[in-house]
Amino acid sequence: MNSSSPIGIFDSGLGGISVLHTLYELLPNENYIFFGDSKYNPYGTKTKEEITERCIQICNDLISLDVKAIVIACNTATSACVNLLREMYDIPIIGMEPALKVACQKGSHQKIVVWATDFTLKEKKFVDLMSLFEQDHQIHKIPCPKLVRLVEENQIHNQNLINETLKSYLPDKKIDSLVLGCTHFVFFRNDLETMFPDISIIDGNLGTARHLKDILMNRNLLNDSGGNIQFENSLPSKIKLSKELFSYLNEN
Ligand code: SIN
Repeated sequence: MNSSSPIGIFDSGLGGISVLHTLYELLPNENYIFFGDSKYNPYGTKTKEEITERCIQICNDLISLDVKAIVIACNTATSACVNLLREMYDIPIIGMEPALKVACQKGSHQKIVVWATDFTLKEKKFVDLMSLFEQDHQIHKIPCPKLVRLVEENQIHNQNLINETLKSYLPDKKIDSLVLGCTHFVFFRNDLETMFPDISIIDGNLGTARHLKDILMNRNLLNDSGGNIQFENSLPSKIKLSKELFSYLNEN
């Protein structure tokens, strides 16, 4: 493994392509292997043990491809097992976290909604994070399983269905920020910004990308001559859609 080795990224399906896209914008000279676990999607309805077993299998496969770091581009998988994966492997393992702190830093007594999977919202990692802020802010948690399906089922051009689904997950009362705590939801960022111009839409993709960049820099592992992306999926039929979703983010 050296600086020209690829970065491995994985997700429960195709949501992590939004993270891959941000990484590619920040670090265009890196090589990437993106693995979508669409066959086992969604992770949000699985047990911690089931998710952990899949993540170990995927990390083993990525490590056999000589990756120099792994990004868990999935909040649910990160909540389930990031600490265990860090103990198991020698290379950097970078996870996701709902960017609640960013929303809270916007002012005092913020009214915040966090969208994620039910699993992410109930796991200790998020419960601990929320306990740091909930005394000073109003934080409302909402699981949004239908939004994961819209991406996996290639419905991101079905504007009526998207608008209706997005609206159904927001409370009637006024809020300041909406935190997207699942990488699938980032595909709806533009829709949300158009529909709710007074609400700050916050995701954790850039924070994760910057964190990865710092880690690679500190270890002298930044590449300056790559730029290749390899798409893999536990359902090979989803590889074409993976590339289309990546292009969609280029255009939007
Ligand atoms: C899911 O597979 O249920 C969504 C994954 C995520 O949290 O990003």
